[in-house]
Amino acid sequence: MKKIFSGIQPSGTLTIGNYLGAIQQFVQLQEDHECYFCIVDEHAITVPQDRLALRKNIRSLAALYIASGIDPNKATLFIQSEVPAHAELGWMLQSISYMGELERMTQFKDKAKGKEAIPSALFTYPALMAADILLYQTNIVPVGEDQKQHLELTRTLAERFNKRFNDIFTIPEVRIPKVGARIMSLQDPTKKMSKSDTNQKGFISMLDTPKQIEKKIKSAITDSEGIVKFDKENKPGVSNLLTIHSIFSNESIEDLELRYADEGYGQFKQGVANAVLQVIEPIQEKYNALLDSEELDDILDAGQQKAEALANKTLKKAKKAMGLGRVRK
Ligand code: AMP
Ligand code: TRP
Repeated sequence: MKKIFSGIQPSGTLTIGNYLGAIQQFVQLQEDHECYFCIVDEHAITVPQDRLALRKNIRSLAALYIASGIDPNKATLFIQSEVPAHAELGWMLQSISYMGELERMTQFKDKAKGKEAIPSALFTYPALMAADILLYQTNIVPVGEDQKQHLELTRTLAERFNKRFNDIFTIPEVRIPKVGARIMSLQDPTKKMSKSDTNQKGFISMLDTPKQIEKKIKSAITDSEGIVKFDKENKPGVSNLLTIHSIFSNESIEDLELRYADEGYGQFKQGVANAVLQVIEPIQEKYNALLDSEELDDILDAGQQKAEALANKTLKKAKKAMGLGRVRK
């Protein structure tokens, strides 16, 4: 069975962008793959975090994974910092990463832009991400469009390591969803929807109340044409809403264009809100029941053990290949 690994940062609440671009795929993939899903808290600290907020977000993300349909009997769900092999292999991979290739990462450039004090971990972040993936001998990494560059670097590092030391790592492939790979901000449809957006109206959080969700969709930026048509170039706002509607209600964009052909944007937006709520409300109910439960801790304990056992195997091989530590006489 092919192995899958993916991670989400516990920095703020998941948006519907994360849900459509990442989690929804995970739920499908767990049916016929060996899946590892990680809450990457060590990635989250590459930008300043409040400790209590971080702790809360880690637990919340775990509950959201399960509430969204990740089945702990099918997939392994765990917290990155609870498996020390990640940080260790991350360091080892930094030693074979070049400044030049890290400097080219657009996520780094975006996050560092305009900042005076840039944490060095923000720069070396891709080496840790490569470690996450390579520790599990991953075949496929499902992520949104924005992570493609990091995946290419992961493959480069794995190939470099294998060539320079020993053939230890499986070379992973990236998988990007055909629709929903890039859900855009509701306030600026040329920008990616992001949970760290300072404008709250730009994103829909998975935990927003139904009222908030309706309000945000109704105030989404569109255009003055009044025609519901998919045209990314000239109608990015309407196209983004169509994409969201289409995935949440599981209908094709063409069908939706027909349905709303004689309606104004008001009706259309109400339709988008209904589609989103139909999926999100049951997820929120499950989430609330899980959040403070012992069941959630049990799931994360079991995940930690399973992940650690596999990660340590690879780590041991990689250390040996690099000449770290000693061999008993
Ligand atoms: P992050 O929130 O950056 O930790 O991203 C977690 C996962 O969600 C990654 O696979 C991202 O590619 C995906 N993702 C984040 N934002 C979006 C978005 N606006 N549209 C689609 N996928 C997204
Ligand atoms: N860098 C990813 C993001 O910002 C999160 C991540 C960390 C990840 N490690 C990973 C995703 C390993 C896939 C595989 O979205």
